[in-house]
Amino acid sequence: MRRKLIAGNWKMYKTTAEAVALVEEIKKGLAGAPGDTLVAPPFTSLVAVVAAAKGSPVAVAAQNMHFEKEGAFTGEVSPAMLKDVGTTHVVLGHSERRQHFAETDEGVARKTKAALDAGLVPISCVGETLSEREAGKTMDVVKRQVDAILNALTPEEAARIVIAYEPVWAIGTGKVATPEQAQEVHAFVRLRIGAVHGRPVGEALRILYGGSVKPDNVKGLMALPDVDGALVGGASLKADSFLKLVHYDKQ
Ligand code: 13P
Repeated sequence: MRRKLIAGNWKMYKTTAEAVALVEEIKKGLAGAPGDTLVAPPFTSLVAVVAAAKGSPVAVAAQNMHFEKEGAFTGEVSPAMLKDVGTTHVVLGHSERRQHFAETDEGVARKTKAALDAGLVPISCVGETLSEREAGKTMDVVKRQVDAILNALTPEEAARIVIAYEPVWAIGTGKVATPEQAQEVHAFVRLRIGAVHGRPVGEALRILYGGSVKPDNVKGLMALPDVDGALVGGASLKADSFLKLVHYDKQ
């Protein structure tokens, strides 16, 4: 039985004071949550958010990292540095990084492996653009992205990752995938994991859905058999809407 994970990706929002205030409010509203809760603040507030979340069930993720251990990479942050500040998870290969920062399937795969090597849980993102969907290429694209990640890992490593399916056309648009669209791709990803690393790995691994998840659509999405949680942008920036997602069973 896979536990659901509700993860807030704060993107490039919030000063340190705002980030701490938000996590304090989230902590107050967690009692009775049916699944796990995670927040991914910007690098600058990781230390403060880890401190604020300490002793609570809120896990803290970074939004990116480099795959190298260290070196002359100005502006980059290493896996060990994230571990050092108490981060337990890291979001990798978000479509905004693929689109605006030229991240490739190969780079995302290397980052996923490097995160595991450092003891971090990678939340590795995949998803098709609108033109890819309209051209009937959704499964081809998702397969290419997922396979690149899976092929960089052993079955034991693959069992420790989280995958997030985020159709690019649903991110920040208010156009959520229909339950049928989400379930179809999630089931496909799980089959693919099973094909590459064996069915038990496919069955154990959590696959999150991301893209315009809101309090009024979360319950239906979480009821889908292969949707194991949500990766949320906009609705994770305010405590009241994020807590409604965390308590998806009561919406
Ligand atoms: P929205 O929830 O704002 O659509 O963003 C989704 C996302 O990109 C989460 O990583």
